[in-house]
Amino acid sequence: MKEGLIIHTNACYQRAEQQAAKYFQSLKTLVSQKTYISTLTKDFHVWKQSHIRHSLFSLGKQKADSRGYDYYLRWLDYRGKLDSYLDRSISYIYMRDLGKALDSPDTQAEIRQAVNRLKIYLRGHDDKAKDFSMVGLYRWAQKEGIESTFIWLAEKLKRVSAHIPQGLDAVQAQRKLIKIIAGVSMHALDEMGDRLSSEQRAKKLDEAIRLGYAYGLTYPFIDDLLDSSVLSASEKKQYSNLIRTTLVTGVVPKWGHWSGKNTTLMRYIHSELREAFDYLKAHHRGVAGNQFFEQAYVFFQSQETDRVKELDHANYSNEDIYIPVILKSASSRLIVRSIVGASEDEGFDKRTFFYGIYNQLADDFADLFDDLKSGAVTPYTYYWKYHRTRPDLLNPFELYWAVIAHLIHHVYHSDPKACEVILDRAINGLKRYKVRMGTKQYNEVMALFDFGEPKFTQLIQQLVHKADDVDFFDKLLRDHIISILKNQQQEREDFFHTVDMVRTQINNSLAIAEGDSLPQDIITTAANYSLEGNGKRLRPIITWFMAVKEYRLNNAAIVPLLRSLEYMHTASLIFDDLPSQDNAQTRRGRATLHKKYNTAVAELTGLFLTQKAVTEQASLDAFDSKNVLRLIQYSSQTTAELCKGQAMDLQTKGKPLTREQLTLMSFYKTGLAFEASLLMPAILAGADEAEIIVLKKFARHAGIAFQIKDDLLDVEGDVKLLGKPVGQDAENNHSTFVSVLGLDGAKQEMWEHYCLAIEALKEIPRNLTFLKHLLNYIVNREQ
Ligand code: IPE
Ligand code: IPE
Ligand code: MG
Ligand code: MG
Ligand code: MG
Repeated sequence: MKEGLIIHTNACYQRAEQQAAKYFQSLKTLVSQKTYISTLTKDFHVWKQSHIRHSLFSLGKQKADSRGYDYYLRWLDYRGKLDSYLDRSISYIYMRDLGKALDSPDTQAEIRQAVNRLKIYLRGHDDKAKDFSMVGLYRWAQKEGIESTFIWLAEKLKRVSAHIPQGLDAVQAQRKLIKIIAGVSMHALDEMGDRLSSEQRAKKLDEAIRLGYAYGLTYPFIDDLLDSSVLSASEKKQYSNLIRTTLVTGVVPKWGHWSGKNTTLMRYIHSELREAFDYLKAHHRGVAGNQFFEQAYVFFQSQETDRVKELDHANYSNEDIYIPVILKSASSRLIVRSIVGASEDEGFDKRTFFYGIYNQLADDFADLFDDLKSGAVTPYTYYWKYHRTRPDLLNPFELYWAVIAHLIHHVYHSDPKACEVILDRAINGLKRYKVRMGTKQYNEVMALFDFGEPKFTQLIQQLVHKADDVDFFDKLLRDHIISILKNQQQEREDFFHTVDMVRTQINNSLAIAEGDSLPQDIITTAANYSLEGNGKRLRPIITWFMAVKEYRLNNAAIVPLLRSLEYMHTASLIFDDLPSQDNAQTRRGRATLHKKYNTAVAELTGLFLTQKAVTEQASLDAFDSKNVLRLIQYSSQTTAELCKGQAMDLQTKGKPLTREQLTLMSFYKTGLAFEASLLMPAILAGADEAEIIVLKKFARHAGIAFQIKDDLLDVEGDVKLLGKPVGQDAENNHSTFVSVLGLDGAKQEMWEHYCLAIEALKEIPRNLTFLKHLLNYIVNREQ
């Protein structure tokens, strides 16, 4: 991107505008001549042959797709329809995203290959990769040798989610990002076939993922943000100017002054988009790169023109309404195609350009009511509002059919395959809309957009009612992903809600009462001081979930157990912080105990708390005393082992530990306490040995993942959030996961244990959703 681009972008916009005006003119002619009606009627009559069957079997099968993703795919396979379903779906993507014509033998061969690959994948019984979970993805990333890319992306996505402002739909934002990243990666996979070495494969996948992310970011942080009312009018203006300057000069301006209340948000977005822009720029060098940025400019500029329109403005011409729509939809398709790096063949520019508005009119139709609510001007909302007073306004639904006829016969030269796929999609769109809106509202909308061709309309409605085999995989996947994301979000909210509630309950029960026997009881005061800090209470929280939610133990009866766990843990921290051990100055957001008092008081308080823990355990009188005895035995053994782990940690300072030694040490010093918090309720409830074994396995990996995250936070964490010092491990010359494996190595090791822990859970026939969220929390936490 060099100087002189300013003229370039403007000229390019004008060129695009002229092209759009010409296209629109020809569409208007089509509409006024009405020839598209007879053309499409003929097409539909042919199409109908293979979509309307009068068979008894059709009874009761309509509902198959509402029963979920896996079920539906199996059902299609069973009925021998999977091939044609995938073929139709992939063909559509080839037209839409890659700008391909379906009649070329090369494209046909590529589509066949892609269908076969997808079929094998979908039929595969490797459900790990299919449930779209972090474990499935990480295992896949390991197979492809792109663990670092996975980790990079996971961290990016986490930050994006944390920055999606209220007022934007977080689920939709995530979905769009995932969609574009997956789309670019899938295309990269398709392109590389089986020819490349594993290093080359990894490199290409890494690029695809980073590219997808860089471009995908523009959806939530440019389009959605500017469409929303998160920013004030003046903030929007500042932001638009920033983007325009970037596109015109090819350089993101430095972060300067921001006036408005969203400074923090915008500062983050600025830095993130700058990184993304630089990545895109490095990727798009040369002529193709210029085209990319020109299209980006056209896209942005046409969006801007569109955005400032107001629904109350009664005098927009058809051109005012449609030309920006043609421009933005065409340029966005051209951008996507350039991002995925589709190979260029004869006529692909033209096809992609003409294609856009078809998509846009379908989308705007589906979003009609949302757009009306937000006051957005689209061809449909505008027509909705003014069609009575403005007979000159084009009916967008009529234009939609004209566009379809134009695409099939002028752009795709009446190719039967293109005709088939486009009509499938058109009927499917209406079918989905009807289901979503309900028949009554659907009919009302249809009546409003009626364009006085009763025969044609009747044919369409008959097809919407009766036609089969018109559905698409991308839509199924979309619904599936939305439901997964929504479900996850709900589960996460429930989890944190319960965690907060339990934490409060625990916090309120920890204080130790001073006895009357000793007037100046400094030890109890010191113990309470340590307990009052802002600890996460993770161990008793785990115990609470297991005890109350899983084993249905009485909430009040287990309070002594919860206390005992936090007492032991707090004692271990007091010891760990001593000058003879880690020599730490702060803990839980306040001075460490030996700093506040002195070493002797700290040591005695540690001892005091471990004894208090036993007292608590021995007062679990609502349970079978044999189980309580087993619990005390297990607890004291575990504490003894923990001491050995801590000693090993201190003895190995500065020594080159192997990964195995390090793992063992972490298990002893940290993992055991997690094991105890899971196992103690199981012991109390008299759980069987097999279950205990699996719980131990889970706890082992969860505990190690926790310690790795702790080591990472010591390097990357924020002191204010942590409440304890950072950089302590290096200062103490400790052998940690980071010092032994490096930052990236430590992160990979953490994800490995994360996966092993989740995989262990699959062996327990219980619904342990909270343990999954607990793990997510462990690896994502900042405190
Ligand atoms: C810190 O434990 C000690 C380690 C095992 C790494 P936590 O991080 O759970 O500390 P608090 O209880 O929240 O203060
Ligand atoms: C502490 O490990 C383990 C125990 C408390 C037994 P660390 O020394 O890494 O814990 P922090 O970082 O001080 O909390
Ligand atoms: Mg330590
Ligand atoms: Mg320490
Ligand atoms: Mg630490």
